[in-house]
Amino acid sequence: MTDAITPTFEDVPLRAGPLVLRAPGPADVPAIVRACRDPLTQQWLPLPNPYDETHALSFVTDLARATWRSGQGIVRAIEWDGEFAGMIDLKKTDWAGLTTEIGYWVSPDHRGRGLAGKAARLLGDWAMLQHGMERVEIRAATGNTGSRRAALAAGYREEGVLRSAGYIHTGRVDLVVLGKVRADL
Ligand SMILES: CC(C)(COP(=O)(O)OP(=O)(O)OC[C@H]1O[C@@H](n2cnc3c(N)ncnc32)[C@H](O)[C@@H]1OP(=O)(O)O)[C@@H](O)C(=O)NCCC(=O)NCCS
Repeated sequence: MTDAITPTFEDVPLRAGPLVLRAPGPADVPAIVRACRDPLTQQWLPLPNPYDETHALSFVTDLARATWRSGQGIVRAIEWDGEFAGMIDLKKTDWAGLTTEIGYWVSPDHRGRGLAGKAARLLGDWAMLQHGMERVEIRAATGNTGSRRAALAAGYREEGVLRSAGYIHTGRVDLVVLGKVRADL
């Protein structure tokens, strides 16, 4: 907790075998730049394009800290076997309603091992068990099969489609809502 009125997520690393979710830092910048320039990442996330070192540095030093301080969520680097492998966050947290949302991307060279699903299970279940969240959501563009399957692998259920709820570089997209509630744990 930062003060009496702003709840925040506990700023600690989370571990499950070779998987670690930890605070991102300046040393991650080159790997973040590579991953955020990747065509699949750019296809599904409305990141700056071109994406350069200044974007990555301001993300880890300013945005991630601001997200945490405001209580909105927490940004975690995904590490697998000691290597940086992607990013996952909690965002849009409602501490009164006890709901939060997960977003993620995995570095191109670490895709294909189900890391987003494993990381989403670890972070989302922690939000419920450690911070009392009652519901965690993942939203994915209807066409983003990899992201939808990752959420399903993490134990989230598809609940419906929000029309024109998201935007990517090519325009607006419908989003599938996948949810996990305490009773699903
Ligand atoms: C979505 C993403 C995080 C998933 O990464 P990952 O954890 O390495 O996922 P995997 O490659 O292991 O795939 C997970 C599942 O989706 C399937 N999958 C992945 N890409 C697919 C595709 N294009 N079409 C069909 N199935 C696909 C895999 O076969 C696997 O299926 P399984 O659960 O039956 O084994 C990664 O592709 C990524 O970073 N994409 C760009 C950013 C992004 O889309 N973020 C999410 C925004 S909502």
